[in-house]
Amino acid sequence: MREKGGIVPLSKMKYASRATLSAARIFVLTLAAIAVTALFVQAGDKPPDQIPSYVEWTPGTIAEASSGDAFRGLLLARHCAHCHGDEGFAQKANTPNLASMDRLAIWKQLQDFRSGKRVSRPMNAIARQLSSKDVADVVAYYSKLPIFYDPEDNRVFPQAAPDPTQKTMAWRLITFGDGERGIPPCQACHGPEAYRPGAPSLMTQNADYVLDQLEAFAARTRANDINEPMRTISSLLTDDERHALAAYYGAGLGMQPGASARVGGSSE
Ligand code: HEC
Ligand code: HEC
Repeated sequence: MREKGGIVPLSKMKYASRATLSAARIFVLTLAAIAVTALFVQAGDKPPDQIPSYVEWTPGTIAEASSGDAFRGLLLARHCAHCHGDEGFAQKANTPNLASMDRLAIWKQLQDFRSGKRVSRPMNAIARQLSSKDVADVVAYYSKLPIFYDPEDNRVFPQAAPDPTQKTMAWRLITFGDGERGIPPCQACHGPEAYRPGAPSLMTQNADYVLDQLEAFAARTRANDINEPMRTISSLLTDDERHALAAYYGAGLGMQPGASARVGGSSE
């Protein structure tokens, strides 16, 4: 039977308040335990270095990455030309070409070098010396540099075309991927047919650099790809495939995957 009129006998009240008190204690202790466990779980499962990048694509970051002054960028790029070339094409195949690269892609890489999310002996220190404005300015400059051929320039791109077997292997992966192994076509994210923010164009990229990056993603020593597309894909590729893809892009064949396959006679 329920008590009538809301009057609770004294004995029961004491019991009730004691019960409430111990319930409160248990509650606090549980909270503390959850907090401590959370700390350990965080330290064990998700240490800060597993956050791939501090960059998030929002209207604000996209506006910042697009706000640069290309002329100021030209002046700043004097410090970069030694390695990335006067026209944004490097003289060494293991250094990336930056000419005409998408502004969001360059901006993201420079942010990741600054925060240490992408590790590079020369680039971490160089990127940290740039202010936020400097970053936007060099991004504006490099993203506007043309990619047409200049015989006067000392660039290594494009390199010799790979043999037909490598060509076919690379072309298939770029155009179709491999459904059985769950590999999407490279061009779905790297162009020319689709585009994902932060995915750099590979059309004019150097072979050794592409290979180094594929190997670094597979080994997870490069881990700044948001949602891990590249760590996943690279680790599914064979060593031969990584070499073939690097050689294909490094020879400039990635510019028109369909056309180059016809030229190579590999469109069976
Ligand atoms: C001492 C040589 C050197 C200098 C100087 C240099 N870089 Fe780099 N840069 C590299 C190398 C090497 C890499 C490839 C990263 C790696 O593997 O270390 C790179 C990578 C990059 C990338 C990433 C490109 C991509 O495709 O992901 C960007 C962007 C970049 N550098 C911009 C700059 C800018 C802007 C400057 C000047 C302010 C500069 N670099 C100066 C050597 C250099
Ligand atoms: C689902 C989208 C997606 C697919 C498919 C994809 N990539 Fe990527 N890739 C990316 C993104 C995003 C980045 C940039 C990661 C970052 O932010 O550093 C990237 C970066 C790269 C880089 C480093 C480029 C640079 O300038 O540093 C290489 C090389 C590369 N991908 C090669 C490939 C190849 C080869 C394939 C096909 C076998 C492929 N990718 C398929 C999304 C993709």
